[in-house]
Amino acid sequence: MDEIKLDPWGDSLVRDYEKLFTVFGIRPFREVLSLLDKPHLLHRRGVVFGHRDFDKVLQAFRSGEKVALLTGFMPSGRFHFGHKMLMDQIIYYQSIGIDVIIAIADIEAYVVRRIPRQEALRIAVEEYIANAVALGLDLSRARIYFQSNMDAPYYRLVQMFSQKVSMAEMEAIYGELNPGKIMASLTQMADILHPMLKEYGGYKHVFVPVGPDQDPHIRLARDIADRFESELGLRRPASTYHRFMTGLNGGKMSSSKPDSAIFLLEPIDSAVAKLKRALTGGRATVDEQRRLGGVPEACSVYEMYHYHLVTSDEELLNIYRRCVKGELLCGEDKQYAAEKLAKWMEEHRRKWEHALSLVTSKLDLPSF
Ligand code: TRP
Repeated sequence: MDEIKLDPWGDSLVRDYEKLFTVFGIRPFREVLSLLDKPHLLHRRGVVFGHRDFDKVLQAFRSGEKVALLTGFMPSGRFHFGHKMLMDQIIYYQSIGIDVIIAIADIEAYVVRRIPRQEALRIAVEEYIANAVALGLDLSRARIYFQSNMDAPYYRLVQMFSQKVSMAEMEAIYGELNPGKIMASLTQMADILHPMLKEYGGYKHVFVPVGPDQDPHIRLARDIADRFESELGLRRPASTYHRFMTGLNGGKMSSSKPDSAIFLLEPIDSAVAKLKRALTGGRATVDEQRRLGGVPEACSVYEMYHYHLVTSDEELLNIYRRCVKGELLCGEDKQYAAEKLAKWMEEHRRKWEHALSLVTSKLDLPSF
């Protein structure tokens, strides 16, 4: 068996999602799908593929208990379609009545990525928060906070947690450590667990939707919750996991590789050009493609449909069928995708401009 490594600060590319079930004990999401009355397309289509204890959270929610979603974004680069996937889930959960708390990990960006604080603040507001609002997040019903702006009960957790975590344990989870990584990790533990304190809502059920690279943090948070159960009344957080988006040129989509990603606010012609250059599941020649059909599973244009651009399942299936039968060729398909993308981005940009002014007037921003 190949070794799989999940590294929250490295480059974890997951080739075989099934292994996360057998190696790490993540459970398949399809088990809990029926607990959502109207699942989001990312749930229906298997993009959200795994969970830990999410069944318990959903059962509590269905029986009327309050539930909090807590997740975080590190403001280190531009917001791309991979980030949108997580934001779409957050917005969906908010729409069904779950309380939403979003951590802006400006301390993590500062200590691990060396992003100046002022720059992290700008990226957080313009890229992450304004895009979130433009995508449909209701700011008045969400709590968005900056790590650097939190108060004593939250930071007291960082300090207290350090008592019950060993160096060996952290090294086993994260690999080589330095003080910055230790701080970032314990700060993330405070992010995940602080909603359970009475000062922040006293939630008994917190779940964390993330990409699988964040699972090491989730495992540690669950262990820490156990260790502070009697002292602080913490409970194990639950989690869900979504697939990474494939980069447009293979590999992982990442803001540090501009050609791998489409950024929500980039100029439309540049986005379209990237899409047209993207790796597809097409064959070497038109003739071969007509004979053998394309491979949508290996196509980053199809992935854009699957995750974002085509919301009707029927239309998606139709595209899939025409591709595998060799009826739909990549040139025609890319033209169609490009038009859909351009239209979407144009509307989104308008919403973003409106959102930006709202965000700057409504949010409690760190001062320097
Ligand atoms: N570490 C996450 C990232 O790199 C950001 C983050 C900070 C986070 N705090 C969190 C994610 C709490 C989930 C829950 O993107």
